[in-house]
Amino acid sequence: MPLICFASPKGGVGKTTLAANIADALRRQGRRVLAIDFDPQNTLRLHFGVSLSDTAGFMTELPKRPDWRAMVRQTASGVMLLPHGSIDIRGALGLAHSLERDPELLAAPLRAILSDPGLVVVADTPPGASHALAILVPMATMVCAVLLSDATSAALVPDIENGRFLGQGTTAALYAGRLRVVLNGVDPSARLSRAAAETVARHLGPRLLGAVCREEAVAEALAAQRLVLDVSPSSQAAEDLREIARGIEAAVPASPEPFGASWGAR
Ligand SMILES: Nc1ncnc2c1ncn2[C@@H]1O[C@H](COP(=O)(O)OP(=O)(O)OP(=O)(O)O)[C@@H](O)[C@H]1O
Ligand SMILES: [Mg+2]
Repeated sequence: MPLICFASPKGGVGKTTLAANIADALRRQGRRVLAIDFDPQNTLRLHFGVSLSDTAGFMTELPKRPDWRAMVRQTASGVMLLPHGSIDIRGALGLAHSLERDPELLAAPLRAILSDPGLVVVADTPPGASHALAILVPMATMVCAVLLSDATSAALVPDIENGRFLGQGTTAALYAGRLRVVLNGVDPSARLSRAAAETVARHLGPRLLGAVCREEAVAEALAAQRLVLDVSPSSQAAEDLREIARGIEAAVPASPEPFGASWGAR
């Protein structure tokens, strides 16, 4: 049942990388995990070894109200995956418009997915606000806002803190409690990165879920279309990812397997 969303007000900060690798870390901790890509860039699948030429996906089929169960992929990692599907800009705008007009297109299958109490769902979202994020947030157990350890991130902290990044007014206040922050790309040997990380950590206190160091192993894992814990299990980044997954695990304890939950079980 738990839904963990990776989101950020800013692009290119590591949302997809963290969504994929934390999903893998949770799986390695014994959870049954489904990773879903809500970003039209359709890149989550690459972390799981799905080929670039494989363009099929869940979101692009939504207007046809597909059976999402039939679209779930088993990946070598053991994490189940619903790729977004490839879409051009006109298609992405059309899909956004459909979701705005009829949020149930997405909300209905999501409710069905989340009704499985033994399943952890990890969502990757597009940068900034999106119709998909607006539908996901009210259903989310935790929203992990990803920030880079730089000067811009320190400036974004107030927006993250008051939940404005998730909605307006009372809505923002309602969901602010679900927000946790992950600092990505921390370079302890760089003065600015360390100072930004320390400032954000001091400010957020326990709302900081964790930090991931900047390391070649992370980018190299993606280049090889593999996961960090698979390629470089003893790297610092791997330890950071495991630590964040343990934090999620502690905040979102395991629930019993539902009776008869047979789809995709491994
Ligand atoms: N901790 C890290 N160390 C080194 N490289 C990293 C790290 N985290 C992410 N990267 C690299 O940064 C790039 C951007 O990461 P990613 O695609 O996950 O960001 P994103 O927030 O999902 O971007 P977008 O907003 O476009 O969806 C990728 O090339 C990734 O390999
Ligand atoms: Mg991304």
